[in-house]
Amino acid sequence: MFELNKNSSLHQECLSIVQNEPHLTANLANLSSLIYHHVGNLNWCGFYLLDKTKNELVLGPFQGKPACIRIGYGKGVCGAAWQQSKVMLVDDVHDFPGHIACDANTRSELVIPIFYKNEFKGVLDLDSEQLCRFDQKMAAELNQICIEIVSQLFQ
Ligand code: SME
Repeated sequence: MFELNKNSSLHQECLSIVQNEPHLTANLANLSSLIYHHVGNLNWCGFYLLDKTKNELVLGPFQGKPACIRIGYGKGVCGAAWQQSKVMLVDDVHDFPGHIACDANTRSELVIPIFYKNEFKGVLDLDSEQLCRFDQKMAAELNQICIEIVSQLFQ
């Protein structure tokens, strides 16, 4: 039984929860829940994965309200992170042209593109009803976590 420990770093928790499990869906489901509860003040947290057959992002495991299932290359914040291969930190989604509002209450967003052996695999998407919920420190930490666990996720 995995107990959420607010005293340990999110980094340690994420590494720990996936370290002995090879199943992608199970790991992404647990990571979504762990990040959602550890970070706090989120209304959505989860993954979109690359669907190579249609060259789109497709909804993966997440926490929050039902969301859009498919996102095209360059569309929305997630598609922009994919197209530009960079972390997208959005203080106010209303200022982001083409933002896809799966939840009308979302005000800020952080999207981390995920690569394995230089191949794009998908994104980690965090949303909050609070303006400016995310900062560069959190973006860097989550990006580093993704880098360190990606081999366990997609090996
Ligand atoms: N807001 C995202 C779409 C995914 S929902 O937030 C879960 C975007 O603009 O790409």
